[in-house]
Amino acid sequence: MKFFADTADTDAIRELAATGLLDGVTTNPSLIKKSGRDIMEVTKEICSLTDGPVSAEVVALDHPTMMKEAEILRKIADNVCIKVPLTVDGLKTCKALSSDGTQVNVTLCFSANQALLAAKAGATFISPFVGRHDDNGFDGMQLIDDIRLIYDNYGFGTEILVASVRHSMHILEAAKIGADVMTAPPAVILSLFNHVLTDKGIAAFLKDWEATGQNIG
Ligand code: G3P
Repeated sequence: MKFFADTADTDAIRELAATGLLDGVTTNPSLIKKSGRDIMEVTKEICSLTDGPVSAEVVALDHPTMMKEAEILRKIADNVCIKVPLTVDGLKTCKALSSDGTQVNVTLCFSANQALLAAKAGATFISPFVGRHDDNGFDGMQLIDDIRLIYDNYGFGTEILVASVRHSMHILEAAKIGADVMTAPPAVILSLFNHVLTDKGIAAFLKDWEATGQNIG
């Protein structure tokens, strides 16, 4: 399973990249706002921090303007992946860009039928939002399960990119289902390292080691 960082915070991305666990980055207009930086400038910096895809989202709602925005965004770097919303115009844009060899992430997916449309439009990634699904009383993981089944039924190459990930259980469940990618805030990714028994084990080993009076090397 690939791990993408869902953030435009370049310090946090740099820290994750140093662990060797970072496979790409996703941004959206809210994350750009949170960064307080210019979209072109911050996206360029993010693209230099990973060789993986960096999703940059269009904000137009009509196909011709989406294409113009995509043209500007994809010139930022070779690893820019254009993010479009799951609308008729978004999928028209997805079809045009993917036919042209550009990576496309179709975002704001809340149903398996929407995911089917995105795959037919040639999306590189489909982003079902599990956290927002759960927030609204639906079962986010059931959505991932349904999309996995449909994509496998027809051999679609579109990768399932689990988004709106809020905690480690979302990641565990998505991995069990066989989602291709998950994107999460860096703090959620780093939380995967935590286990009380790991901390306890290290403390016990160090105590015993100290008692031996030995050094390595
Ligand atoms: O990148 C979009 C998505 O991951 C947003 O997550 O937590 O705002 O629902 P959230």
